[in-house]
This record gives sequence, C-alpha cells and structure tokens, in this order.
Amino acid sequence: MPIEEPSWNCPVVALDGPSASGKSTLARALAKALGWFYLGSGDWYRALTWAALRKGVNPSSPQALLDTFSSIQVLGHPDGSVDVDGRILDAELRAPQIDQAVCDVADHGVVREALNSRMREFRSAPEVKGIVADGRDAGSVIFPDACLKVFIDAGVDARASRRLAQVEAAGVDTTIADVRRALEERDSRDAARGASAPRPSSDGKVLDNSNLTVEEATGRLLSWVRPLLKEDPTTLS
Ligand code: C5P
Repeated sequence: MPIEEPSWNCPVVALDGPSASGKSTLARALAKALGWFYLGSGDWYRALTWAALRKGVNPSSPQALLDTFSSIQVLGHPDGSVDVDGRILDAELRAPQIDQAVCDVADHGVVREALNSRMREFRSAPEVKGIVADGRDAGSVIFPDACLKVFIDAGVDARASRRLAQVEAAGVDTTIADVRRALEERDSRDAARGASAPRPSSDGKVLDNSNLTVEEATGRLLSWVRPLLKEDPTTLS
C-alpha cells in the first residue's frame, strides 16, 4: 500500500509496545502536553470488532469484516475516543467478548490495511496539529515517517500488576496468574504478525516503563520530542 508523503504540518509520535506496558496512558499524557490528537490504534481494532459482533459477523472472515467496515462510519476524536455511527464507545470496547475476538480481527492483513488507511487520514485534517499514536505497529507500519518512535516496554510482572488493577477497578474478579496467562497468550498472538509484530524500531528508542511513574515517563518522552520539533522538519528522519 502506498504510504502518504510525510506531512510536516502534522508530525506524528508513535509509541508501540506489548499489551499493558502503559503505552496508552503515556500516549494520552504526551498528546495532552503537546496539544495534539491522541490516536489509540487498538481501540480502532476494538471498534471494528464491536461492530462486527453486533452484526453477527464472524471475526474469522476478512471479507465480512471489510464489508462491516465499509458499512459503518468510524470517527476519531482528539482525546482518542472512537465513535461508530455517532455512538461514542468506551466501556463497550473493554468487554470480555471484544478481548476474545479482537485478535482474530487483527490477524487479517487486508483488515489491517483498511484500518491503517483510515487512521492515516487523520493527518490531513486541518485541525490536527500533530498526533501521538500508539499500538503495536504505529511506527513500523501505520506512520513509518513518525518524527519519534518509542517502544514502550515493561516486564511481564509489571504489566500483569497494571492489568490486574485495571480489571479489578472494572469490577471483574480474577487472579494475577490468570491475568499473566492472558497477557502471555496475547504476546504470542501479537508476535506472530510479521511486520506488524511489536518490536523496537531500528530508527527509534526504547523506554523501559516497568518502574517509572506516569510523570517520569512522560517527562522522558517530552525531553525527546521537544528538541525535534524545534528542528527544521525537513531534516528529521
Ligand atoms: O492496544 P489494545 O490491547 O487495546 O489492542 C487490542 C488488540 O488489537 C491487540 O491485542 C492487538 O492484537 C491488536 N492491535 C494490533 N495492532 C495495533 C493495535 C492493536 O494488532 N496497531
């Protein structure tokens, strides 16, 4: 698929990493600090999964998913929230049925391409000054010309503790062992996706977020991005 020419009117910072590494929290905080749009690519996969399940579409059928995607209107808002046909989705996207089906949806290359082209359209919206995008392949595939690519990593124990706190806050009764097992399963599904598998980029940085507070990690990211924005954009790689 042809990649859009770099749009220096709309720089992108891409934060990728495994599940529960904290990348969405950091991407939101960074977008807020910069006054940019936040684009959580995982929520776009989840929104399509939600629409497909509602229509009774089998998440293993790429054509049925593409048909579903063309039949709905998906919009992204500056804070990263996603709406489908005018309905803002939030808790719906975290439902266990979505967790189960979203990996099937994300396994289809043609579905990934359709979502990626829609996400790239954000850059041409006049009101978007810049984008902080997160996901698994935001820097490697969606926005390969991002001015800064950071792989947000964290050990599996730190990730499991974070995910357990989120799940418990949502009122779900579970154990750290179950949460850890689910994370490891998700890691191996993600790792099997070739070019879209989460991995540090050769032209990017790695931030180990196992033991940092949100403020510390956001401060580190800002210290990397601010000098880039002062440079002549055409010199950025
Ligand atoms: O980020 P989150 O865990 O909400 O993403 C949901 C799922 O969507 C992930 O498990 C992953 O399989 C898929 N995904 C992806 N590529 C992205 C973002 C998410 O494959 N860029």
